[in-house]
Amino acid sequence: MTHVTGDHYFTAEPNTPAQAREVQFTVAGSDYTLTSASGVFSASRLDPGTAVLLRKADLPVTTTAGDLLDLGCGFGAITCVLGNVAPTATIWAVDVNERARQLTVGNATRLGLSERVRVTAPEEVPDDLRFAQIWSNPPIRIGKDELHRMLLHWLPRLTPDGVAWLVVARHLGGDSLQSWLVGQGWQVARHASQKGFRVLRVTP
Ligand SMILES: C[S@@+](CC[C@H](N)C(=O)[O-])C[C@H]1O[C@@H](n2cnc3c(N)ncnc32)[C@H](O)[C@@H]1O
Repeated sequence: MTHVTGDHYFTAEPNTPAQAREVQFTVAGSDYTLTSASGVFSASRLDPGTAVLLRKADLPVTTTAGDLLDLGCGFGAITCVLGNVAPTATIWAVDVNERARQLTVGNATRLGLSERVRVTAPEEVPDDLRFAQIWSNPPIRIGKDELHRMLLHWLPRLTPDGVAWLVVARHLGGDSLQSWLVGQGWQVARHASQKGFRVLRVTP
């Protein structure tokens, strides 16, 4: 039976009961088993766009230090990969959805990453923090204006030599987002394109 509710994946406090699910995937030779739940984005599998991002973008390396941002962390797939491949970096996992944040806390803890993963609502991130990297499969469905506002809030918080990696489906406006970012003064390279997804590399 299908339950119809007013929840979106970006609902702050989903009303649907949290039915736990296991999501397994492999990135850069490491296997991950994370817990997801109904009421969060792509609850039953690693989203194909996120999979393309993690496959095609330049992942941090063991020496990558500083603060990295997973913008719109969902159940924490990107956060867990970043935390695993960059063992001295601090990962900020930010989401408006409280259930997503709880899941990310649990997943990071099970992977032994809790000391370096900070899971917060967007407004709780300290204003003076700057990020060496921003990673995002951004919430296109919140609408263009809101999406642009979100990016204009976070991208200027890259360090001068920082880099943002975004993945957007072409049919959901990947190319127009690229043009808009260029119009805002960002350097944007279409780093990769696979399965209908664009991986954008954005630098100041
Ligand atoms: C496309 S999903 C990606 C989730 C996760 N990173 C993944 O790859 O599975 C986008 C996420 O952004 C979150 N989100 C929506 N609006 C947001 C905002 N203003 N600030 C931060 N996160 C937001 C949603 O709740 C959702 O979890």
